[in-house]
Amino acid sequence: MKLKLSRSTTSATQIHFFTKEDAKTITDFSGESGETEVRYDRKNTMIYCGLGEKALCNAQVIRSASARGIRKAIELKRDGVSLVLPSQKLRVEGSEKAAVEGMLLGSYSFSKYKSEKPHTVKTAEITGDLSSTELKKIETICRGVNYARDLVNSNASEITPEKLAQEASALSLSKRIKVTVLNEKKLKQQGLNLLYAVGQASPYPPRLIIIKYSGDPKSKQRTAIAGKGITFDSGGQNLKPTGHIETMRMDMAGAAAVLGTMKVLSELKAAVNVTGVIGAAHNAIGENSYFPGDIYKSYSGKTVEINSSDAEGRLVLADTVAYCHKNCKPDRLIDLATLTGGILFALGDLVAGIFSNDDKLADELFKSGEKSGERLWRFPLYKEYCDAMRGDLSDLRNLSKFKKGYASSITGAAFIKEFIGDIPWAHIDIAGTAFNEGQARGEIPQYGTGFGVRLLTEYLLK
Ligand code: BES
Ligand code: ZN
Ligand code: ZN
Repeated sequence: MKLKLSRSTTSATQIHFFTKEDAKTITDFSGESGETEVRYDRKNTMIYCGLGEKALCNAQVIRSASARGIRKAIELKRDGVSLVLPSQKLRVEGSEKAAVEGMLLGSYSFSKYKSEKPHTVKTAEITGDLSSTELKKIETICRGVNYARDLVNSNASEITPEKLAQEASALSLSKRIKVTVLNEKKLKQQGLNLLYAVGQASPYPPRLIIIKYSGDPKSKQRTAIAGKGITFDSGGQNLKPTGHIETMRMDMAGAAAVLGTMKVLSELKAAVNVTGVIGAAHNAIGENSYFPGDIYKSYSGKTVEINSSDAEGRLVLADTVAYCHKNCKPDRLIDLATLTGGILFALGDLVAGIFSNDDKLADELFKSGEKSGERLWRFPLYKEYCDAMRGDLSDLRNLSKFKKGYASSITGAAFIKEFIGDIPWAHIDIAGTAFNEGQARGEIPQYGTGFGVRLLTEYLLK
């Protein structure tokens, strides 16, 4: 979609926003949030988007309404629209950004495997109070989100660990980015035995991918963002049953969020220093699969008993964050992972879980979540949870000693905590939010959501 800023509305299809109070003067339109209504006036089509009560209206309400508005325009097969920003009548912080974001995120469709391509809106004119720099920034972020969605939605046979490495390498066209990839041979040589083990049964061998972005040479500060990149999670020898395995190409959504975020930082030439790291592997079942019950030495030196080959994400992340801590020396580390089904029981697919050893980092990320609309809720990491991960024959185990299913998201996080050293760290479990198996709602499409790109860019750019 091509965007342009305009002083006045010239398109025959227009998207307008109304609160319930505004809508009092409109016949048969109440302005409820969630309500969209099409009105025709000679040659013009007006798409009315309800925002609900003025007092309750916030950026998320606007983002979501705008997404519904553009989907209506797509349904009506319009080639061009005018988006009339609601800022004049509303005093909501970030209302312009939210409206444009809603339009760009809501118009996403994944049609790579469709013979008949869906209709797309080619141009959008934006009228209201927004600078062209601000518009460019929003556009870049949303393109990063949609890129992450494409990666999650594409076939697992296409998005292999090596493909993720190639996507990272493509970013190194920028002078500010340096990409390093460790192939399976190097992983073995350097002792990333957990990452190696998870990937060893696959014809698509594992990779460790490091994307170093240096946008602020004056600062020594560096943040690392780490992503779980399981390109398909069969469960391994602890094979996943029918009903649980079908969506497991999405198990690299953490990696997709890292790639999307690094792409945004580089395109914006952001004045920050960020290292993206991805542990990429295909958790396959085959004659070469790693065995439940076996004990491995991790990159950090700690030994781990594999109680389940389906708790592979924490194994991959253990080596990924330990490698990052030792070799990249970041000041803080945030990891994103589709780690546990348990997080869906706790928060559904609306909010991601956050686990942290640092209140300041957790608070800042929480605020970035509220602002970006990619919301977080914090869980505790009390000592008892960490103790439950101690092994009998090994230093650690990859399943807790608790009853099956008890606090599985927390104990997964407690396991990763053993490998991050002494820096501020936050783990974000996106197993629920990264993939929407239901219908599109607001700016969230069906399937891959691109969760994490907006959250991380909000946090890193602030
Ligand atoms: N990739 C899954 C988690 C997952 C589940 C993501 C559902 C998205 C939707 C992960 O590797 C896994 O299998 N986790 C297990 C952990 C358990 C064995 C401790 C789980 O959540 O059941
Ligand atoms: Zn698994
Ligand atoms: Zn997994």
